[in-house]
Amino acid sequence: MLKDTLLYLAQNPRLRDFVVQNKLTRNVSRRFVAGEVLEDALRATRALNDRGIQVALDLLGENVAIKEEAAEAMRDYVNAIELIARTQIDANISIKLTALGLDISPQLCEEYLNTILESGREHNVFVCIDMEGSAYTEQTVALASRARERYELVGTVIQSYLYRSHDDIIKLVDQGTRIRLVKGAYQESQSVAYQEKADVDRNYVELMHILLARGNFPAIASHDEAIIDDACRFVRDHGISKSSFEFQMLYGIRRDLQDKLVKQGYNVRVYVPYGSHWYPYLMRRMAERPANLMFVVTNALR
Ligand code: FDA
Repeated sequence: MLKDTLLYLAQNPRLRDFVVQNKLTRNVSRRFVAGEVLEDALRATRALNDRGIQVALDLLGENVAIKEEAAEAMRDYVNAIELIARTQIDANISIKLTALGLDISPQLCEEYLNTILESGREHNVFVCIDMEGSAYTEQTVALASRARERYELVGTVIQSYLYRSHDDIIKLVDQGTRIRLVKGAYQESQSVAYQEKADVDRNYVELMHILLARGNFPAIASHDEAIIDDACRFVRDHGISKSSFEFQMLYGIRRDLQDKLVKQGYNVRVYVPYGSHWYPYLMRRMAERPANLMFVVTNALR
């Protein structure tokens, strides 16, 4: 109930303006967001790299409705790739297709995506296409699959709460596309997605086994210790190398677990969001864990 309310409010422009303009909530958002400019993300990345952790840089922004804003997002993503190459930080990037104008025109979005992938190829930087709400799944899978035919360094995300994900994974794995597996962070109806956590978790484990056994350097993106333990057991029992996959977690969440996995010799990558459009991202993090809502409220009131 609280989760649904928070995910609903994530789309509310009036609450967004109030929260984003409020200095206190802006400060509190720093628990989950590296900062508002690329230099903040660079600083956070260096600190993570020093702990033996790789990074996926995510410029926040989604559902852009104006062509110029989509072009600006494209240029910002290219800037991030160039910064990674210039500074030699250990990072790749994550992008959202609705930030590149998917709502305006799929053709325009694909053109901008290809510009980013050209830059990724030139600088040897991998680009992951994040997965958004189910209204975009079909287009995202199709665009990622088409992009993979031309570019090596591209992958996408699959959400275990969707019924269709098993079929998508088989198709993408056969094509050699790199996949990040997540549970899914959006509000979805019973017609397309499992509603019970137990079903989402069970499907996650099934899909994870497919990826670990046959995937191209998959990312197991979760903070769920039972799932992470299962992954460690599965690779050990099947003689799969620790170097053939990576764990991924979100910035500011379960730092203890990130360090523990690094110490055990696993690849760990942390997703580092930055930028001024942090409101929907913060709301999704609160929806995942009500304790985060308490963290934001009590610190904002302090
Ligand atoms: P679950 O939600 O069951 O949580 C397990 C445990 O992890 C909790 O008990 C708690 O201890 C901890 N935890 C989880 N979330 C927390 C939070 N917000 N704050 C504090 N503790 C928390 N989704 C999507 O739809 N599209 C995408 O492209 C991505 N991309 C992405 C990248 C990366 C690197 C990660 C880690 C996650 C995503 N996600 C995503 C989000 C994902 O779908 C999911 O909502 C979150 O990862 C939370 O799910 P868990 O797997 O952690 O399990």
